Amino acid sequence: MKIKRLMSAAIAAILFTTVCWGDAIGSPGDVIPRPQSVSPAQGTFRLADAPTYYIKGVSDETLGKYMEESPLKLIPATRQKSADVVVDIKGDKGEGYVMKITPKRIAISADGPAGAFYGIQTLLQLTADGKVREMQCCEISDSPRFPYRGLHFDVSRNFRSKEFLKKQIDAMAMLKMNNMHLHLTDGAGWRLQIDAYPRLTDFAAWRPQKSWMDWRDAGTKYCERTDPHAQGGYYTKDDIREIVDYAAARHIRVIPEIEMPGHSEEVLAAYPELSCTGTPYTSSDFCAGKEATFKFLENVLAEVIELFPSEYIHIGGDEASKDAWRKCPDCRERMEREGLKDVDGLQSYFIKRIERFVNSKGRKIIGWDEILDGGVAPNATVMSWRGTEGGIKALKSGHDVVMTPGEYCYIDYSQDAPFKEPVSIGGYTPLAKVYSYEPVEAGLSDGDVAHLLGVQANLWSEYVADDSHAEHMYYPRAYAVAEVGWSSPEKDYADFHRRALKLNEEMAGKGYTPFDLAHEYGERRESLTPVAHAGRGAKVAYGTPYNSKYPAAGYATLTDGVRGGWTYGDKRWQGFSGDMDVTLDLGELKPVHYVGADFMHSEGAWVHLPECVTISVSTDGTTFTDVDTVWCDVDATYPKILFKEYGTAVDTEARYVRVRAKANPRPGAWLFTDEIVVN
Ligand code: ACM
Ligand code: ZN
Repeated sequence: MKIKRLMSAAIAAILFTTVCWGDAIGSPGDVIPRPQSVSPAQGTFRLADAPTYYIKGVSDETLGKYMEESPLKLIPATRQKSADVVVDIKGDKGEGYVMKITPKRIAISADGPAGAFYGIQTLLQLTADGKVREMQCCEISDSPRFPYRGLHFDVSRNFRSKEFLKKQIDAMAMLKMNNMHLHLTDGAGWRLQIDAYPRLTDFAAWRPQKSWMDWRDAGTKYCERTDPHAQGGYYTKDDIREIVDYAAARHIRVIPEIEMPGHSEEVLAAYPELSCTGTPYTSSDFCAGKEATFKFLENVLAEVIELFPSEYIHIGGDEASKDAWRKCPDCRERMEREGLKDVDGLQSYFIKRIERFVNSKGRKIIGWDEILDGGVAPNATVMSWRGTEGGIKALKSGHDVVMTPGEYCYIDYSQDAPFKEPVSIGGYTPLAKVYSYEPVEAGLSDGDVAHLLGVQANLWSEYVADDSHAEHMYYPRAYAVAEVGWSSPEKDYADFHRRALKLNEEMAGKGYTPFDLAHEYGERRESLTPVAHAGRGAKVAYGTPYNSKYPAAGYATLTDGVRGGWTYGDKRWQGFSGDMDVTLDLGELKPVHYVGADFMHSEGAWVHLPECVTISVSTDGTTFTDVDTVWCDVDATYPKILFKEYGTAVDTEARYVRVRAKANPRPGAWLFTDEIVVN
């Protein structure tokens, strides 16, 4: 089956490129996500100026309306035979479709309404939204690899209008993505009208600073909605109904996320009695001991469930600090009464209790992979973000899983060289990396894979203030996630890149602001080839240990000639949680002219340049002479990622070279370096 698919794709590519391919002819070889199979045929089909459609089988008025309002402006035909586009909907559900393009007409035979909609999406891409009127004849047989293809919107950190969300729903539909995950609540603002708790939207949805960074630096305080400086916003229930309906008409489910027990500073500022201390701005976690917390959450969830038809309700579950729980008499009492041995057990109690409530309303919970800690709730679906280990564990215990591992699916990371990209949280996840993600890992059985629902890309938006910046982060990386979720696992990045460039142009033409893939700079040049220097291979003695989370190549790292890339997480940068003090043994007395090392600054990740670097040399390893101290001249709050070489000329003979880097005094500051270069 796979071979047949590949062969037909290859034949299609040859036929389309050699026979008649030109800009003015729509090619199935250009579609994203790549269809499962394409069989080429002779001839072309030309779309009339006023093309007609006919829907048979299961009736679908929504689809007819969509086709009429689409850029193709199809008009209903009275008879099937005279229609340019005939859609036959065979059943009530199913996302697959077969599309036959003949010189006379386009016939789409769909498993269900979603399949018919996706056939129309393919047609819209083939015609570049109607700009291309001629199409190569062929037969496309298509269906998704995974049932869940998601895109995440963090509307808490920076509120986005409903118009923005509807625009992204259009892009998701084009990419055959079917789940919009709305991260509606977090420390930076509550974004949903809840009738029972008006302070959530009169207070917890507003802050005096527009930018999240300014708000953070000013101490993360909220303000009254009536404050003349108030920035933020929320969705009314009518807004949500409009968004949900708009998405449903495009076969997209909107999954609301209500964070608990952590990431809830905004709720606890508005309703401090729900925190362990009863005082605002003291914890990010709901008190797990007080009954009032569960009453609040059940009341909120009841309104959420009434508003969102999604079978999944996302309950967050990530990154609860649980610190306050350890000291809180209510939490401790609950732990004792319920026989819970630690705070993980208390979190598990919390989530299981919420699950029972959500299940009682006929819905399911989905949560970040921390909900596995202390024992996962029996019917929970897990969203695996801290790598895939949590997801695999959940799959192996029979739970449904959506994979969204940070390394591949976190599109808040920068997608190109930081010097040319907007401020970001750090990291480096270029399009090729996202595209390379394969969710089915070795060791998973067919039974496990049956529970792997699919994939999602997440855009956390602390650093993403503007809508155009958000689109820059989403596209083209959302194309890659869509293709990972929809298409067969065979990968050809060069071909995907070609299609992404083309789609980017169309997206730009429609008013989106995708990343300029045509001018991608790529990985840090220094990291592409090993650096030759006199210290290469020298033994390194560590006066301060590197942090075991970021060992890179361990003791060999600093003299292996390998330079790091754009992210400290690429296993080529070595991390120190504090000062660094290392001594290289060059093996024999050698002339030394220069000693230097690169350090990284990534403010969002607490990675800072050293305050100063002192370089010393010795002939015997006991008595060292300081050669120079180089001081940092970059402000620790500089928002962008940068790299800086700290080096000095040395004019002596030495066997030992010592490099001491003093960490930035900011609490929690890290140091990262990749190589100590000696020449
Ligand atoms: C997460 O990124 N904290 C789910
Ligand atoms: Zn408590």
